[in-house]
Formats: sequence, structure tokens, C-alpha cells
Amino acid sequence: MSGPGPTDAEATRFSRPVPRARIHPPVDVFPIDAWKLETTRFTGRFAPQVETIYALGNGYLGLRGDIEEGAPTAQPGVFLNGFYESWPIVYGESAYGFARTGQTIVNVTDGKVIKLYVDDEPFELANANILEWRRTLDLRAGTLDRTILFETPAGKQIALATRRMVSFTHRHLALISYEVSVRNATAHFTVASELFTRRAEAEDGDDDDPRRSSGFDGRVLEPVCQRAEGRRAVLVHRTRNSRLTLACGMDHEVATEAPFSEHAECGENRAEVVFSIDAGPEQPFQLTKYLAYHFSGEAPAEELAARAERTLRRNREIGAQRLFEEQRERLDDFWEHGDVEIRGGPAIQQSVRFNLFQVFQATVRSEGYGVPAKGLSGQGYEGHYFWDAEIYVLPYLIYTAPRVARNLLQFRYRMLDQARERARELGHRGALFPWRTISGEEASAYYAAGTAQYHIDADIVYALRKYVQASGDMRFLCESGAELFVETARLWMDLGFFSEQKGGAFCINGVTGPDEYTAVVDNNRYTNMMARENLLGAVAVVETLRHRYPDDLRDLVRKTGFEASELEQWRRAAERMHLPVDEKTGIHPQDDDFLEKEVWDCAATPPEKYPLLLHYHPLVLYRHQVIKQADVVMAMFLVGHEFSAEEKKRNFDYYDPLTTRDSSLSSCIQSIVASEVGYPEKAFDYFLDAALVDLADIGGNVTDGVHIASAGGTWMALVYGFGGMRDHEREISFHPRLPADWEGLRFRLELRGQRIEVDMDREGTTYRLLEGSGLLLRHEDEEFRLLPDEPARFPTTSD
Ligand code: BGC
Repeated sequence: MSGPGPTDAEATRFSRPVPRARIHPPVDVFPIDAWKLETTRFTGRFAPQVETIYALGNGYLGLRGDIEEGAPTAQPGVFLNGFYESWPIVYGESAYGFARTGQTIVNVTDGKVIKLYVDDEPFELANANILEWRRTLDLRAGTLDRTILFETPAGKQIALATRRMVSFTHRHLALISYEVSVRNATAHFTVASELFTRRAEAEDGDDDDPRRSSGFDGRVLEPVCQRAEGRRAVLVHRTRNSRLTLACGMDHEVATEAPFSEHAECGENRAEVVFSIDAGPEQPFQLTKYLAYHFSGEAPAEELAARAERTLRRNREIGAQRLFEEQRERLDDFWEHGDVEIRGGPAIQQSVRFNLFQVFQATVRSEGYGVPAKGLSGQGYEGHYFWDAEIYVLPYLIYTAPRVARNLLQFRYRMLDQARERARELGHRGALFPWRTISGEEASAYYAAGTAQYHIDADIVYALRKYVQASGDMRFLCESGAELFVETARLWMDLGFFSEQKGGAFCINGVTGPDEYTAVVDNNRYTNMMARENLLGAVAVVETLRHRYPDDLRDLVRKTGFEASELEQWRRAAERMHLPVDEKTGIHPQDDDFLEKEVWDCAATPPEKYPLLLHYHPLVLYRHQVIKQADVVMAMFLVGHEFSAEEKKRNFDYYDPLTTRDSSLSSCIQSIVASEVGYPEKAFDYFLDAALVDLADIGGNVTDGVHIASAGGTWMALVYGFGGMRDHEREISFHPRLPADWEGLRFRLELRGQRIEVDMDREGTTYRLLEGSGLLLRHEDEEFRLLPDEPARFPTTSD
């Protein structure tokens, strides 16, 4: 066997496009391993997708899965959360208040590359005679492993083994272990370990695709200083406009019995440590490469270089073996809390674990930063933070990793002053969070589908409230959360008004809801309902402080100038929120005009015209009843307690056929609501769509990075959909609905410091208390107290 050629698995997963006719790829033909993603043959053909799937990250540092040899690659990259370059947004026609500063995550100094020369000939994968190839993303070890056996034209058999990781326990660290040996001869190896910056090239391809990154042309990173000593080198660079300084260092350890020599070189944009080895048969050369990344907007270059060196020194002392062990231990803990076990669908199990692992990789060490739409696996959406984090990623974290959830909310809190400024700029009171950003400034150049999505404010405090209810972390609420509630409530009061035309109803005009195919509308149902939730939440929080934490209330008044009279206004606006019902159909209109528009003929739209955003001018879409992603249906999930069962069914029946799922954020929500309103097959189909969005490349853009919102949404579809969990206020209830082909589904949740396990099978559901002294839960209509060592079992009822 030699040379490139896709494996069946790769071909099935990545042969695009999966038609929007909703035919799912036959997941069961994939090589199934519940804990691994393995390829057994090298192929360049799917390199762009594979680079995303094999990306490693820890929420701070991300390495794309390009190979050590440095070629062939598609979009090689290294990303740091919060490390961006800014650029002036140029408008053909500008207007007051438009976002001015674009921000793009930077592809930073790359330390992945280790080149191999055998008897002075470069080892080039594309031309090599590969005898064996195995590359594995190991979801339990947290490593990307590779073994290759190839034969040189002179008949020498060379074995190469690499293992790569981005550490979960040391956030600035990545590690590569690299071993090469010759089996049947002697050979001269040159192993060149590199550190270099790339010249950014403007991406080719579809300039009209807003989901991609605009990229830069030329050098984004300007050299500041560099040094090399022994086996260690450090390069320091600074971004031209955003003035962020980055130090990237590498150091090496060698273990071999073969004689070797070494030398290091260092220039402004490249450093190299080169080993020259005379290897006998079965005399392996073992190299460990330590990589450290530190950046800052304030710290001087020297200081950052010293930090990188300290990280290298400290981790060399710990040693690779222990570092790999720590990685596994950290992951054991993650799976213990966050795994979802599916009995009966091994391929689905694999996809689900892949998704959960992606959320972990995107968040676990993100401290001080947000969650980019693609995590740190690619440059799609410019590395921006959206509502994806609060609405799609946080639920999973709140119930399985509350400390990480808290860090992310804390990060939003730190943006509050900028959000206050932005509100002022737009003439509002309170705070207005940016629709998309890295630095905290609004970076959305298209206001109709950007700034107009005011719902971001309500989304943030919605997640905050869920976090506080699930964790019981009142300190966070008092010290940070309350201020967020007050300032966002003020925004709604300012944005909306009591309309005489509408009998004094509180109306919010000129906004865009989640559905970006309908923009700048009056009274978007989702926005109004979430604003209402925001206002009522603010009232409840202030009341709580007044009764239980008077000192914190005093602080809140000092920080926000809060006045007691505001409470009454918030209550009134919430009570009178405009939430009409359409008399003719009995459904809830998505906005004031939605039902007046012409209905888009989805059935007559050929599959290749999806996603519609790439084929139709926005105005054409805005004129029709056609929906990019769940909107009213989204509200029916998030504030489901505000709808009756009949309303939910009517709304779902109306909106579902109009919903294109052109955003990957849609399927998981449609799945949850389909489960609830009694469409189990649809629920399952949509669930698959979410779970496979990356592994089957359903959107055709996995190259640009994994879809983190959908990954979090996959967990939501399992737990809120099939598990039927609802978490309104402090009441946690379950309404299990196991998919027809599954034998069982099991997940664990953390609730106010206690841990429970929910174990569903065909006959019933068992609840177990894993940690804690006991808590009240609800199974369907029955409330029960779950106690230690006393599992509660409920038989399945047909409904
Ligand atoms: C969706 C947004 C989402 C963004 C980033 C867009 O296509 O419409 O809701 O926040 O992608 O994932």
C-alpha cells in the first residue's frame, strides 16, 4: 500500500455535500471506537477537514491537526484565545455608530514542525512509500498519536512515532514526543525542530461567505526580540495594531544511544534546533519538544520571554511522562463528570464523545477569555465570541464543570464597562454587549445581523441566572451578576416603550432575533420574551439582595446608581410585554410583520442553493417567511414555562417547515422541541444533524473549525431532549424519552454541589445520588427526594 488515497471512513465522512434533503451519512460504516478517532491511511485529500478534527486545544492554546512534517497541509495553524489583530473596518457608506474596529484571531508562531531527513533526503509524505500509517485522536489520553512505517528508495525501513498534546493542566504548554528509528540498516537522520511565524495570506475561496475569516495579507506579527541557547529558543513578536506581545519558546530533551550532534539557529521569524544522528538498526532517537506560549497587552517583551522560559524549565523538570499522565488524569475527571453514555449506538457514542471533548478543549483553560465560535480549532468567524457561549456551551458547563462556567461569566462581567460605553454611543441607558467581539468592542460590520441582535444582553443574564440557580453561587451573583442584571434591564427599558397604538403594550422595535434571515423587525417574539425574563430576573435579584444581602445591595447602588423606582418600571414593562397571538392560526408570530410575508418555497429550492445566505441577497430573504435558525422555537425551549403544550405544538408545526437549519445552531434546538411536542423521529434526525455536523462535515465548512455551539447543543439535545430535563427556577424535572433504537442513555449532573446520575433504559429511568446529602427532583409529574444509597426508579410510561 502506498501513497495517498482516502480511507472509506474518511470518504464517507467528508464527501460533501451532504444534501440538505436531510439524508444523513450512514454513520454505522465508520470505524467505530467509542474513545478514538483513527485513520489508518494517509491522505492529503481530506487534509483540511482532518486538520480541524485533529485539532488540540485547552481553551487558551490551540494547535490545528497539521502534521509535524509541515507539508502537505491545508490550513496549518496555532491560535491563542484573545490574541487578535485589529483593523479599521472600511465601509463604502458609513454611518454613525457603525462598528469601527475589526478583530481577527491571529495565526501565531508555529512550533509544531519537526522535519526529518534520512541520508540527507527530506521525508515528504506526499511522495513517500508508506507501509503503515495510523493516526489517532485519543479521547481518553488527550493526545494526537501517529505511527508511520515507510521505506526509502534505498530500501531502508524507517519507523516514526509522534505524540502531541496541548496540556489541560499547564495552560501555556504544548508537548510533542517524537521518535524515529531505522529497522533494517543504519541511517543518518537529521531532525530539525522549528519555531516560525507565517506570512499571512489572504484566504482564497469564497469571499461572500461571512462564516469564513477575512484573513490578512502580509506579516501580522512584527519581530521584537529573539534568542537561542543550547536546545532552547524564544521568539517574541508584537501585533502591529492591537499591540499584543507574544513570546513563544521551545526546548528539547533527547534520549538515544546513537551518536549525535546538535546546533541551534535563530532569526527574527524563525528558530531551529537541528540534531544530526548516526543511527544503527533499532537504535531509536527520541526527542521531546516543549512549547510555551505567553502573551499580554501590557507586559514587556523581556518579561514575556522570561515567562516562556520558566514554563519550559518547569515542565522539563516535570518530564513528558508525568505530563502525559496528568493529561489522562485530568480527562478521567472530565469524563467522570461530563460523559454521556449511549447504549445501542456505538457510532453515535463516538460522535457524541467527540463533541463533548470539543467543548472541553474549547473551554477548560479559557480563564479570562470567551469561547470563539470555532473554539481554537480554526479561524472561522474570525475567532469571535457570540451568544454561542452563553446559550449553547454554558448549559453543559453549568451542570458538569461549574467552575469553568463561572470563569466564562466572569469574563463577560469584565466587558461590562465597554458594554456601558457602547450603549451610550448608541444613545441608550444601561449596557449593550457586542454581538461579536474579541476585545470587548463591537466587531460586527453588518449591523442588521449584528448589532441589531440586542438579545445578546438577555442571553448573557439568562445563562448567568441558570448558573446561579444550579450552583447556588450567591457570591458571584452579589459581586458581579447583580450589576449585569441592572444594566441589561436598563437597556430594555430604554430600548422599548409603552405603545399607545398597541394599547399600552411594551414594544421593542428595530431588532433582529436569532433568525438572521429576518432582520431589523418590531417585536421579535424571542427578543421580547427574553427581555421579559431579563427584567423579571433583575427584579428578583434586587429583591434577593434587599432581603438577604443588604451590604451587597449598597454596593450595587454605589456601582450602578440603582434607584428603587426602577423596580416598578421593570415589573410593568415585563407585565405588559407585547406578546401577541395570531387569531387566525393561533400561533405566536415571530414578529409584527412576519406572517404578512410571502412564504418561501423550501420544497422547490434545490439542495445546492443551501445555505441560502450564499445564494440570495439578504433583501430577498428578508421579504419571505424563511428562517435560518430556530427563533420562536428557541424561545419555546429557553422559556418553555411561558407556553402551553398546545401552543408549543402549533408553533412548532408552523415554524419547523420554514426553518432551513442554515445555521448549525438550529438542529439541536429543533431536536429538543421536537422531542417535547411528540415527534421522536424528527427529534432523532435533528439530533444526528447536530452530533455529526463536524464528523460528517454537514455544513461543508469544518475546514474552518469545529462548530462549538452545535457541540454543546449535542449535549443539550441528549439531556434536555431525550432526557427531557427542564430547569426552570430551582426545580429540576425530567421527562425521559429514549430514542427508539437505543437501549439506554446515562448522564451525570452537578446541582448545588451534589451530583446525580440519570440512567434511562427501555423499561424505566433510575436516578442515583453520587455525592451529597439529598435533593428534590421531579420525574414527569412526580416529585421525589433523591437520597444517598437510595436510587429512585420509575417505569417508562407511554404518553
Ligand atoms: C448564526 C449565529 C451564530 C454565529 C456564530 C451565525 O451563522 O446565525 O446565531 O452566533 O453563526 O456561530
